[in-house]
Amino acid sequence: MACAPLIEVRNLRVALPLENGVLMATDGVSFSIAEGETLGLVGESGCGKTMTAQSIMRIAPRFAHTTGQILLHEAGGTTDIVALDPRGPAIRKIRGGVCAMIFQEPMSSFSPLHTIGNQIEEAILLHRTQDRAEARSIAIDMLGRVGIPRPAETIDKYPHHLSGGMRQRAMIAMALSSQPRLLIADEPTTALDVTVQAQVLRLMRELQDEFGMAILYISHDLGVIAHMADRVAVMYLGSIIETTDVRRLFSAPRHPYTQALMRAIPRIGKRSGERLEAIAGNVPIPINKPRACGFANRCPAVMPGVCDVRRPALEVVAPEHRAACFLYPEVVEAADV
Ligand SMILES: Nc1ncnc2c1ncn2[C@@H]1O[C@H](COP(=O)(O)OP(=O)(O)OP(=O)(O)O)[C@@H](O)[C@H]1O
Ligand code: SF4
Ligand SMILES: [Mg+2]
Repeated sequence: MACAPLIEVRNLRVALPLENGVLMATDGVSFSIAEGETLGLVGESGCGKTMTAQSIMRIAPRFAHTTGQILLHEAGGTTDIVALDPRGPAIRKIRGGVCAMIFQEPMSSFSPLHTIGNQIEEAILLHRTQDRAEARSIAIDMLGRVGIPRPAETIDKYPHHLSGGMRQRAMIAMALSSQPRLLIADEPTTALDVTVQAQVLRLMRELQDEFGMAILYISHDLGVIAHMADRVAVMYLGSIIETTDVRRLFSAPRHPYTQALMRAIPRIGKRSGERLEAIAGNVPIPINKPRACGFANRCPAVMPGVCDVRRPALEVVAPEHRAACFLYPEVVEAADV
């Protein structure tokens, strides 16, 4: 596997000014993904996974105030996606071409007015070839590869002619057909049955091997993350609180939140489909967040006077392993600087 970073997210903050205060949807998120690598992004509902993904594509709500950097490294140079006009030509070239995204809800990708074939072919013509016949044949091939029966006929159907599962596969075919360098998959298989889910995950990995595509795989499902990811970033309340390679995360989690996730799902990797909902207490709403560890109100190891007065930074706690928790001396030292 190559190691050059394709994308580097640095200190990403997305602030949503709401009537009752500023909601920090992401609050200082940093990570990078190398060519050919899969980073799994995992965490409970509302922790900022989708907002992180939307920021990379520049499709976050218009009223969002985004700061930080999202550096896309290509052979021709580095682009800071945060600095681009969200409606300008530069991001349109990146969106759907260099970076493609698939969602849980396929209707957000397709227009009801055109056949799925037309839409997939347009994406291919925009990003891959000028030849219409070739674009159609790539589209048919892709529809077949995601498990759509009779792709040469299905290509001329409108989105509403397809079942939900078929639309989901067609959306995945559309995203993959432009051969993106980064595929962002935001809970893409949650609505699919287990057999189709396995098929789609296999396809993503096959295409990753074939084209060296990087994947940001977002899920609640630790079983799927264990299966798909090379490295994992665990998010909580808008921040990454632990990140390391997938084996280490599952064998030696350091952050009390990650440990609670692991305890909540004792048979990781065997019970795909389990959701992260067995941890006691509620996630605070990230409006006007206090300077404290975000997990303090739920943490069994909370240290009063420490965890409720400062916010722990994400620091190295072991080789290639970072956590944001004052239980580790390295984190305390960094906070004292
Ligand atoms: N358009 C919006 N208006 C107001 N708040 C929003 C909006 N979009 C997201 N948020 C808030 O931003 C935070 C992060 O949301 P986000 O959708 O990124 O979470 P998530 O981790 O993807 O959750 P889920 O697992 O449910 O998809 C949440 O508190 C959410 O309520
Ligand atoms: S910093 Fe404190 S409250 Fe936060 S996870 Fe660590 S021990 Fe728990
Ligand atoms: Mg989401």
